[in-house]
Amino acid sequence: MRTTASKVNALLREIWRPAASAKDTRRSLVSSLLRVAGARRCRSRPIDTAIRKLSESDDFPWVIGAAYWSVRRKEKSLPSGTVFTPPKLARQVVSRLLPGLEVVDLGAGTGMLALTAAKKGFHVIAVEEDSEMMLVLDALSRILKVRDRIDLRLENALGYCGRSDQQIMANPPYTRHHLIPTHKKKVLSHLASRLGAPLPLTAGHHAYFMIYAWTTRWSQREVLLLPTNWLDAKYGKELRDIMMMRGPREIAILESADGRPVFENALTTACLITTQACSSRTTHSKQAPRIRVIEARNTRLNHRVARRRYIAKLEKILQSDGRVPANPGHTVGDVFRVKRGVATGSNSFFVLSRASADELGIPDEDLQPILRRLSRRILRSQLQHLWIPAKHPSAASLRRVRKGRSLHVDETYLCKQREPWWRISIPVPPTYFMSYMGRGEPTVKANERGLLNLNNIHGLYLRDGLPRRVAERVVAWLRSRSGIAALMTCARRYEGGLWKLEPGDVERLELPKNLL
Ligand SMILES: C[S@@+](CC[C@H](N)C(=O)[O-])C[C@H]1O[C@@H](n2cnc3c(N)ncnc32)[C@H](O)[C@@H]1O
Repeated sequence: MRTTASKVNALLREIWRPAASAKDTRRSLVSSLLRVAGARRCRSRPIDTAIRKLSESDDFPWVIGAAYWSVRRKEKSLPSGTVFTPPKLARQVVSRLLPGLEVVDLGAGTGMLALTAAKKGFHVIAVEEDSEMMLVLDALSRILKVRDRIDLRLENALGYCGRSDQQIMANPPYTRHHLIPTHKKKVLSHLASRLGAPLPLTAGHHAYFMIYAWTTRWSQREVLLLPTNWLDAKYGKELRDIMMMRGPREIAILESADGRPVFENALTTACLITTQACSSRTTHSKQAPRIRVIEARNTRLNHRVARRRYIAKLEKILQSDGRVPANPGHTVGDVFRVKRGVATGSNSFFVLSRASADELGIPDEDLQPILRRLSRRILRSQLQHLWIPAKHPSAASLRRVRKGRSLHVDETYLCKQREPWWRISIPVPPTYFMSYMGRGEPTVKANERGLLNLNNIHGLYLRDGLPRRVAERVVAWLRSRSGIAALMTCARRYEGGLWKLEPGDVERLELPKNLL
């Protein structure tokens, strides 16, 4: 029996063979689907025959979706944040819907959720703004003979007006804020304020889908497939408050199955949140959601104790209506402010080796030594030079400004926020450095030479008025076995054993009782 992956590969080979480019491949796949769906299959075209044959297997929508996703990604035309829901997860979403109610799929894509629900007998309104994905969904639903149960709407999902006999399901686009064009961000932010839930401009695209779904007056239930990072982070507070106000029923944490990421193509852990409007909207719901972990094998939550601890932590956060509870003991944040290092917007442009700075003739006053990598011993070779032109830039720096423009560095997100685009604001050097991410153990190093750090390294800044010996005691603990273990409990985990320590998580880390 062929695996799903081998079917996707065979299909891709079939459509790549006659095609000259990714665009031709995509066209060939979509037109073949439309021919098969319209019973106009052309027997002389092997791709039509291949699709017809594939349509008999259970994983057909996924094979087509995965092949389509892959050609559009190659062509770089996928709407940002688009990852399709694997069949197993799609079934999990649909199993949480209220029976008998029409379902609105916000951002339906090629229909992984919509088709699964329609096959289960639901009537679905599939709202999608990408016309070609809608064509694919149309064709798939015809081939699977569920077209009469799906209503296709080519429109903005966040403007959809529903009815009171409907419910929502969605796998919203997971797009971080810096990839959302400024004009779109302004529209989204306006929408959030109109819904009574203003979000900071740093909110990702999925956050707007969340508040849209959790503030509608018409939906009877919402089942959302989301990333997990906002659940226990400080910046997720607004979203947690809105979720608590709505009435959370269940939070299902999905780590990996078989040690593989939940979404094959997105580096994130996911959760399924089921909410149902409370009868009174004026008070926060006191109903505690059921929190459970599903699909966790070979991952951080596969151990019973780790799972119990994580669930207890979430419960505690949610009990306080989304506010992270105040910590009765001392935390790292009482001693240090933890800050990210310098964000340039383009390290390959702003950070120079000594040799390249000399070659470009950039004088020392336009350069500042900066640490690019943190290891146990800080070596000279790990030092680089941040190009920060003085108020009146040297001739060599003016040449570099012109070069940056010709390379479109001035158009990157961070550069566009600066005036002029190349003036990076420089913080004071931190007292200590700490690893931000890695696969080994986190490291804390004293900043003996007063260096700056790039944003892949955190800076620990001693709070005003605290003596150096307090800092040394905390750092000694952070470097100890128990300190490293404590740091790793607040780290976020990613595929392949990668972890990340967010500054807020480190600041909230509780210190041992008698340390200070
Ligand atoms: C993460 S994909 C999920 C697709 C599909 N529901 C699934 O689960 O496989 C998100 C989809 O939302 C669509 N989308 C993004 N923003 C949208 C909007 N404002 N209105 C309608 N669709 C949108 C994208 O084109 C993409 O197809």
